[in-house]
Amino acid sequence: MFKGWIVTGALALCCMAAPAALAQQKAVDSERHQWWQHAVFYEVYPRSFADSNNDGIGDLNGIASKMDYLKDLGVDAVWITPCFPSPQVDFGYDVSDYEAIDPMYGTMKDFDHLVAEAKKRNIRVLLDFVVNHSSDQHKWFQDSKSSKTAEHRDWYIWRDGKGNEPPNNWYSTFGLSAWKLDPKTNQYYYHYFYPEQPDLNWRNPAVEKAMLDVTRFWYKRGVAGFRLDAVDTLFEDPKLTDNPVLPGTDKFGRPNMDEKYNKKLPEVHDVMRKLRSTADEYGSVLIGETWTSNVSELKDYYGEKNDELQLPMDLMMTGFKGLSADQYRKHIAAVDAAGHWPVYVITNHDIVRSYTRYADGVHNDDIAKMMAALYLTLRGTVVMYYGEEIGMENNDPKSRDEVQDPIGKLGWPLEKGRDGERTPMQWNDSVNAGFSKVKPWLPVPASYKTHNVVSEQKDGNSVLSFYRQLLALRHKEPALLEGNYVALNESDPNVLTYVRRYKDEAILVVLNMSATEQKAQFDLSPLGFSSPRLSILLTSFHKPLTGMTDALPMEPYSVFMAKISQTSAGK
Ligand code: NOJ
Repeated sequence: MFKGWIVTGALALCCMAAPAALAQQKAVDSERHQWWQHAVFYEVYPRSFADSNNDGIGDLNGIASKMDYLKDLGVDAVWITPCFPSPQVDFGYDVSDYEAIDPMYGTMKDFDHLVAEAKKRNIRVLLDFVVNHSSDQHKWFQDSKSSKTAEHRDWYIWRDGKGNEPPNNWYSTFGLSAWKLDPKTNQYYYHYFYPEQPDLNWRNPAVEKAMLDVTRFWYKRGVAGFRLDAVDTLFEDPKLTDNPVLPGTDKFGRPNMDEKYNKKLPEVHDVMRKLRSTADEYGSVLIGETWTSNVSELKDYYGEKNDELQLPMDLMMTGFKGLSADQYRKHIAAVDAAGHWPVYVITNHDIVRSYTRYADGVHNDDIAKMMAALYLTLRGTVVMYYGEEIGMENNDPKSRDEVQDPIGKLGWPLEKGRDGERTPMQWNDSVNAGFSKVKPWLPVPASYKTHNVVSEQKDGNSVLSFYRQLLALRHKEPALLEGNYVALNESDPNVLTYVRRYKDEAILVVLNMSATEQKAQFDLSPLGFSSPRLSILLTSFHKPLTGMTDALPMEPYSVFMAKISQTSAGK
């Protein structure tokens, strides 16, 4: 099968040079792809990225000071999780003013400075729009709770209880009932998340108008789009029908429930369309926090007429247990075949870091590189989470007393909360990983001594160096930007192999997803390469590649990427 193959060594790559983000600079490329289709988005959790004023919490000036790092890495857009005024019960996802900056993070001037610094480097800035709920400290809710006849009463969801019980059996996803009794008016208000996060009533046109105006406010300030928070919980059944109870219990010890009547109601899509048409007024992009159980649900978020979200995140991979080539192959094929532009995500600020999820204690960095090669070489847009590029791992609290995230306090020890994946960015090996001169709000893991930006920049074999090379290829290679996804060797249970094909360009990607060496075999002749030459672009091998007679020897959890061309012998 490998007869006639020629493999040549690593090309003199752009690898260590700053990536030339050619396709990303044009509004629309020759394939009519928009900038956001080829952009690498990078999620910044502002509390934890860089602390410019040394108060232990990151801030906007900190983010602005790291723009060169982001540019050099190959980032085209940053999504900043909520930096608006907030009591910080849910660390910013409880917004008390949608049109201002929390002083903890800086000022509006600092925000403008950040956008300007990003723009200088052709990096766009996206914000996080918390559409489902506000903080209970927002002036809308303060007015709403003041009396049954208040102007904003119907901006939230208020109902009478059933005797001394809440209106129905719905749960908050953060632990208790979804209803809280407010003694002032003796009615309950609905909150899908913490009680301090009352749900907005999107059936009220005044709410819709106010929220669409919020997006306009930021678009006018230079924001390139939003990541939309918690979109699937925007609507509830107006009859408040009880949810069906299922067998078993959840991590808070409550009976499991089918959230049929307060999640993923069809009306959600009406709001997505309205947010989209407003975004279109400004040429902006919407990324969705779209938790879906299957590809068909994911498809719905693009809209029947492509009039909803441009980039609904495919978060399904984050739930995969272990590393099974077969599971990834099937999922990618299904997403790819659905006909839309995919957005593969492997982790974020709510999910245990991928490094920790997949580490086996022996091949940790190899696995991190292999996962990077997977999500950075597929067709679609990439949303990275800060620190993934240096192999940051979770640093979960060791005891309940250490927990900051309220769900960790409530659900301890089964639910430890999300502190572990939100720890400070590891910039160097000095105290507090160079994040701050004072004790940070969350402790850095011991791994910062080896896994930090400065050390990894000096090491050509680090996770960071691998990411930089991958991102450089992703920005430069037409096959990675525009190419189709063609699966190869589909019965191999250990090695995931595919080609990205665009016109005459083809790039082979081989990923060993197992802990043992594998001999990868594949046939490129159906793709028109009867006598192929493989010019290596990037590998994560520790040893030189030898012995390639009838198969490609793949080290455990390794990556092999090569450009395919036809040799003259096969012409
Ligand atoms: C999803 C966000 O990612 C999460 O951090 C937050 O707690 C909930 N939505 C509620 O806003």
